[in-house]
Amino acid sequence: SRKVIIDSDTASDDTIAILLASRYFELLGVTIVAGNVKYENQVKNALFTLEYIGRDDVPVYLGAQRPILGKWRTVEEVHGENGMGNWEYPLPHKKPENEHAVDAIIRLSKEYEGELEILAVSPLTNIALSYLKDPNITKRVKKIWIMGGAFSKGNTTPIAEFNFWVDPEAAKIVLNAGFDITIVPWETAEKYGVLNDKDWEYISKINTKLSAFFINVNKILYEYSRKQGAAGSIHPDSLTVSIAYDNSIILNSIRKFVDVELCSDARGAMLIDWYNLYKNKPNAEIVIEADSNKFKNILFNSLL
Ligand code: BDR
Ligand code: CA
Repeated sequence: SRKVIIDSDTASDDTIAILLASRYFELLGVTIVAGNVKYENQVKNALFTLEYIGRDDVPVYLGAQRPILGKWRTVEEVHGENGMGNWEYPLPHKKPENEHAVDAIIRLSKEYEGELEILAVSPLTNIALSYLKDPNITKRVKKIWIMGGAFSKGNTTPIAEFNFWVDPEAAKIVLNAGFDITIVPWETAEKYGVLNDKDWEYISKINTKLSAFFINVNKILYEYSRKQGAAGSIHPDSLTVSIAYDNSIILNSIRKFVDVELCSDARGAMLIDWYNLYKNKPNAEIVIEADSNKFKNILFNSLL
């Protein structure tokens, strides 16, 4: 089966992305990067998630604890103070590895040369640092699936999506490095990766240990998304992992040159050269439309 690493700022939807990665792929490791909530909470959340889903065999590696440059704030209002919908779960027994995430990513890219895929559902700091440390990694990694960027409706600034906004320099480095990339932007997730009231009802009826986990960790995310006017809770990371697993979820996508803006108010904005004005080779596929029902089925099945 396909070999993956998931790079995560583990909070609410990230935990479900980890669950999906562990179900549908051979999950070689979870690497933690600065993003959603306090770093030590993200680490605890990842360790607990793996323990809870019965996968404490999957190693957790600590990576970048800051973005490369600039301002960053955590978003406890989206995920709860601890990043897990304020669920007071028991302290995990599992410990992180001693090896640094960047070294683990480079090592695994050698051990599984031409096979390793990266599920990058968080700020791209760890991936950028791996590339800076060993630029040949672009030739060994098969594919990077990125959740990040907004076409125009930023969720963190009026124009920037959270993952690109936290570390725009890292996003720029990764996009321009020469990896094979598919991007799932914010608006695609908002439209096709949303679980509405009926879906929540269905999940609560499943009534398993995993459906209870889903509800606990995503409660605050759900309330936050509803307050923002969404039809339900938005699951960009889970959608990205599902798309990686089953490409037929992609109903419409484009291949274009994509870059990231680094300046002042536009920091973190995704730039798509729609008309090929720069005459650059396309460096990413960008998912525009996705099959919501297929996504939901993949997600629901993982909760059984
Ligand atoms: C992204 O930001 C984080 O809050 C989520 O985990 C997701 O990766 C959405 O903008
Ligand atoms: Ca994330």
